[in-house]
Amino acid sequence: MADLFTVAPGRKALVTGGASGIGLGAARALLATGARVAIADLPAALDRMGQTERDALVPVPMDVTDDASVGAGVAAAAATLGGLDTLVNSAGVFQFRAIEGISTPEWDRIIDINLKGTFLAMREAMPHLKASKRGRVVNISSDAGKRGFALLGAYCASKFGVIGLTQAVGAEVAPDGVRVNAVCPGSVSETKMGQVVIEQKIALGFGGSPEEVVRRGAESFPLRRLGTVEDVVSAVMFLISENSNWITGESINIDGGSLAG
Ligand SMILES: NC(=O)c1ccc[n+]([C@@H]2O[C@H](COP(=O)([O-])OP(=O)(O)OC[C@H]3O[C@@H](n4cnc5c(N)ncnc54)[C@H](O)[C@@H]3O)[C@@H](O)[C@H]2O)c1
Repeated sequence: MADLFTVAPGRKALVTGGASGIGLGAARALLATGARVAIADLPAALDRMGQTERDALVPVPMDVTDDASVGAGVAAAAATLGGLDTLVNSAGVFQFRAIEGISTPEWDRIIDINLKGTFLAMREAMPHLKASKRGRVVNISSDAGKRGFALLGAYCASKFGVIGLTQAVGAEVAPDGVRVNAVCPGSVSETKMGQVVIEQKIALGFGGSPEEVVRRGAESFPLRRLGTVEDVVSAVMFLISENSNWITGESINIDGGSLAG
C-alpha cells in the first residue's frame, strides 16, 4: 500500500489510539515506509499488544483527554524519535444514545476523547511539526462528521468538530509548512469500535446477529460492502505522502459512496 505513494524518508510519527484498529493500521503502514513510529494509547490498550509490535513501535502511555498526559506523551515521543513531523489522531469512542438519554458525563467523555483529544495532541505536537518544516496531521473524523445520524448526537457533534478544527488549523499553519487533513470513514467492522457498533446495533434491534448487522450495513453502502482498515489507511498514507502536497484543510470521504447519496 505504501508503495503507491511517495512518503518522505525517515518520518517521525506519533499515532494516537495507535494500539488498535485504524490507528494501528496507520502505524504499521508508516513503519513499512521506514518511519519511526510512536503509538499513544491508554496503558491497558498498550499492554494488550503483542511483544513483536511493542518492539517495533514506541509505546507511549497517554490519555488524550488529559492536558498533562498529552503534554508528557508528546514530549516523550519527540525526545525518543528526535522530533516529530507526522501526527495521526485516531483515538476515539462511539456510543448510540437517544438525545434524552445522553448524560452530561457521557457527552463530556465523547467530546473529550474525540474532539478535545484531537485538539490537545495538535496543540502539543505543533511546535515539533513546525520545526520539522514538513509537518503532516491526519485526523480520523467520520461520515458522522459530515451528516447527522439518529442516536449519534454526541458522536456526530465530536466528529463535525474535528472537521472544523482541521479546516481552521490547516489554514493557520499552512505558512509553516504543516498540512492538516482529515479522513471520514464509514463503517469499518473489523476494529474494536466496529465490534462495539455491532453489539450496540443488536441491542437496539437493528439485527439479530453480527452477520445480519454486517449484511444490512453493507447493503446500505452504494459500493455494497463495509470499509476495511486498509481502505482508511490508504487515504491516511496519501495525505501523509508527497502526492498530496497541495491539499490542506480537506476531509476526504472513505465511505463506499454513502455520502454521495
Ligand atoms: N470503526 C469505524 O467504523 C469507524 C468509522 C468512522 C470513524 N472511525 C474513527 O476511527 C478512529 C479509530 O477507531 P477504530 O475503529 O480503529 O477503533 P478502535 O477501538 O480499534 O481504536 C480506538 C483506539 O482509541 C483508544 N482510546 C480510546 N480512548 C482513549 C483515550 N482517552 N486516550 C488515548 N487513547 C484512547 C483505544 O484504546 C483504542 O486503541 C476513531 O476516532 C473512530 O471514531 C471509526
